[in-house]
Amino acid sequence: MSSVSDLTASKAWFHKARLGAFIHWGLYALPGGMWEGTSVPYLAEWLQSARRIPNAEYSLLAERFNPQTFDADAIVKGFSDAGMRYLVFTAKHHEGFAMWRSRVSSFNSYDATPAHRDFVAEWSRACQKHGVKLGLYYSHCLDWHEADGGDPRPCENNFGMSWGNDWDFPDQQNKNFDRYFETKVLPQLTELLSNYGEVAVLWLDCPMTVVTPRHARCILDLVHILQPNCLVNSRLCMLETLGDYGSLGDNQLPAGTTADDFPREAIITLNDSWGYKSTDHNWKSPAQVRQITLDALQSGANLLVNFGPDGDGRLTPESWAILHDLMEWQDAVGEALHSGGQSPFPQDLGWARAVADDRRLWLFPGESAPDTAVLAGVEGELQSATGTHAARIGQDTWRLDGLQALAKTQSPLRLEFTEPPRYDACPRIQNGRMRLLPAQAKLIHGEPNALAMLTDAPLGAAGEKLVGNGHSVLADNGALCDWHNPAEHCVWHIRLESGRYRLRLVTRNGAHSQPWRGDRTVEVTIGDCRLTAEIVATERLDDSHYYRAAVTDLGEIPIVHGGEFDLTIRTIHIASPDAATMQLERLELQRS
Ligand code: GLC
Repeated sequence: MSSVSDLTASKAWFHKARLGAFIHWGLYALPGGMWEGTSVPYLAEWLQSARRIPNAEYSLLAERFNPQTFDADAIVKGFSDAGMRYLVFTAKHHEGFAMWRSRVSSFNSYDATPAHRDFVAEWSRACQKHGVKLGLYYSHCLDWHEADGGDPRPCENNFGMSWGNDWDFPDQQNKNFDRYFETKVLPQLTELLSNYGEVAVLWLDCPMTVVTPRHARCILDLVHILQPNCLVNSRLCMLETLGDYGSLGDNQLPAGTTADDFPREAIITLNDSWGYKSTDHNWKSPAQVRQITLDALQSGANLLVNFGPDGDGRLTPESWAILHDLMEWQDAVGEALHSGGQSPFPQDLGWARAVADDRRLWLFPGESAPDTAVLAGVEGELQSATGTHAARIGQDTWRLDGLQALAKTQSPLRLEFTEPPRYDACPRIQNGRMRLLPAQAKLIHGEPNALAMLTDAPLGAAGEKLVGNGHSVLADNGALCDWHNPAEHCVWHIRLESGRYRLRLVTRNGAHSQPWRGDRTVEVTIGDCRLTAEIVATERLDDSHYYRAAVTDLGEIPIVHGGEFDLTIRTIHIASPDAATMQLERLELQRS
């Protein structure tokens, strides 16, 4: 029987913490993605699998691992100054190397290296000193060092790499995952949860279909006994939704809103690899990281920003530049960042990111914001306005000015009301536009069909995918994922004035690192008006190799008499099963 913990307080802490650091650091940091003179094509921490390096050879890296410049104290101080309230450190990644003094396996940073250091202890001490909570990542399924480590087959969709070690241990029949689980996973987790003080988060990864709900419950029981306040992420098990909060897919951006009892966490790389990769120069700019932080903030999700220290234990200069930028930004963003709030609006404002707590509303105008904007749907007695002049121009409508200056410094304006204001629950045009998210729509399911079944298997290394049983489902990122069932539709109840409206649709790949695929016809109705359109990428949104997005111009709809309407969108034809994994991210209306 599972022990039950009351995690309300932990979830409340987590929700307010909002920003954290992810640290991918292990033996793979030494080669930094390079092996025998060439660079690994994928993630640097996957080097051993990508190059099928025998354990006998890979283990030699340990003999060279002596990161003398590693200084947990300086790094954690940097995190803390940058507004980060927790970190998650890869205590053991898929390579199987323990970054602490483990009595369970000598393949660890104390016994197998000239450094003789326990890095979990070093992070833990630095965390306590700087008021940052400690989280630990542990690869509970994949372990290439062990003959019995998880070895799910087939290995497709993973760039031809093998999930499990089938180069040293090709005989899959004789692999006994239970043995690995009993003799390494549970004993090592026991060490981690017993010897390093408070562990606020246990971050598990890549459960595949190997980790059964029984295994997952064993881990949960252990956590509840040893660290009753510790939160476990949702990558615990793919076969059943377990865990205390939802992990989004790698580099998947959150939208929509977050429930108090099931927090969400987005994770981003700063270049395209988690582990240090010397040849990857595709760094995000500090401004991009700020934007992503605000996206997470307004959708109520946490954000873990990843750092991959090199083999000497140093963060790259680009990572420090981003940290320094976050530090400088704290004066402007800090109050909203840790308010525990999220957007109170039933739509995405588009021109600004919004965060509200009880009586305060912060708006962060974006680069394309006009200097003066009209904000609709907020009714209340204004006590003060900071950073803007706010003039009431209707019962629940305000004119706000000075927005461009705020956009330049990514500072918010703040409206404080004498009592909690009332936010209109019906989306309406804001500043000439309306941006609607599936997370804010009613999803009407149809019968599962043959095409729907095609995508029914859980996908994705991370186990981030929900299993829809033939239905499209709302992904943790707030998008409609596996948008594959022509019989179902999204409905938003909206308010529109008369006029002509141009519709644009944003869709994104459901599986990461794939080319963008459209191939479908959709139908949109607003009241009695109907419009069908082919989804064709007329404008690419970004070039990230993760979740590629595209914008489709659907055409125009005239609204003769203004009022309240049901706006629906459904797929009426999918040409290729490939398009079935598409995600519906948002629908935009713009007054022509
Ligand atoms: C993927 C990768 C893994 C990385 C993780 C971070 O699951 O397999 O290397 O640690 O993403 O989310």
